[in-house]
Amino acid sequence: MDSKVWVIASGKGGVGKSTLVSVLSVIFAEKTMKTLVIDADIGLRNLDLLLGLQDKILYELYDFVNGRCTIEDALVVHSDYPNLKLLTVGQEAREDDFNAEELKMIIETLKSDFDIILIDSPTGIGKGFQNLLDLYDECILVSTPDVVSLRDVEKTASVINSKRRTSPYLVINRVDLTSESAEKIAQALDICLLGAIPESRKMHDTMLSGAPVTKCGDSAVIEALNIIASRMRGKEAPAKLEENNSLFNKIMRIFKGGA
Ligand SMILES: Nc1ncnc2c1ncn2[C@@H]1O[C@H](COP(=O)(O)OP(=O)(O)O)[C@@H](O)[C@H]1O
Ligand SMILES: [Mg+2]
Repeated sequence: MDSKVWVIASGKGGVGKSTLVSVLSVIFAEKTMKTLVIDADIGLRNLDLLLGLQDKILYELYDFVNGRCTIEDALVVHSDYPNLKLLTVGQEAREDDFNAEELKMIIETLKSDFDIILIDSPTGIGKGFQNLLDLYDECILVSTPDVVSLRDVEKTASVINSKRRTSPYLVINRVDLTSESAEKIAQALDICLLGAIPESRKMHDTMLSGAPVTKCGDSAVIEALNIIASRMRGKEAPAKLEENNSLFNKIMRIFKGGA
């Protein structure tokens, strides 16, 4: 398998980006893939907490670019998965401390040591996100099924389309399987749907407890996450979602200006 760099981004915050990145990283690590997760949320890191690595971070990418450590020093090895490493960009850094060319060179260097790299992008379309636009192979936009979050996805996708030839993928999170059709939403946005993750109290509670989400006991969530992971690895898996046009029609009205 070719090593790929994935950026996971969103227009709106709080939609489940970091949750998705942390869970996918564990799924890949469990499949013995050499996995690197990068928390690119400058000044607001949280993947260390979600992965239970908050006490293990001695150096960040910001220290490396300032000559205070080697890049190896900044890679934090997961306690349970030796093939899973975390790189945080910088708790004390600011967006202007990094530039796109420098980040691209660093990622290119790291790429040969890993099977997959997942980058948790800063929310929105600011400089932190723009710095990542030139360095990834694939991008996933995460959204909840509400119109505000979906409109921000549409805006983010148009920024991507204007800078890159490839389109992003869409993951819709916190879906109510009885009332939404993720596939229809993706069609309305003209973005390829990679998967839809159900709303799950069990997953939320498991994240809060610090236990791995893969052990949350919610089979619908685990199945949805495994479908996304296998599609990212280039394998086909069936998407199971019920059809319902109500939200689709609402979104169509909003995007076509007929609300
Ligand atoms: N499918 C889901 N079901 C229930 N809660 C979720 C789900 N996905 C994420 N959450 C919760 O939503 C909150 C925000 O998630 P987070 O990953 O931090 O979002 P982001 O990184 O996009 O800001 C967290 O409390 C997380 O546990
Ligand atoms: Mg986050």
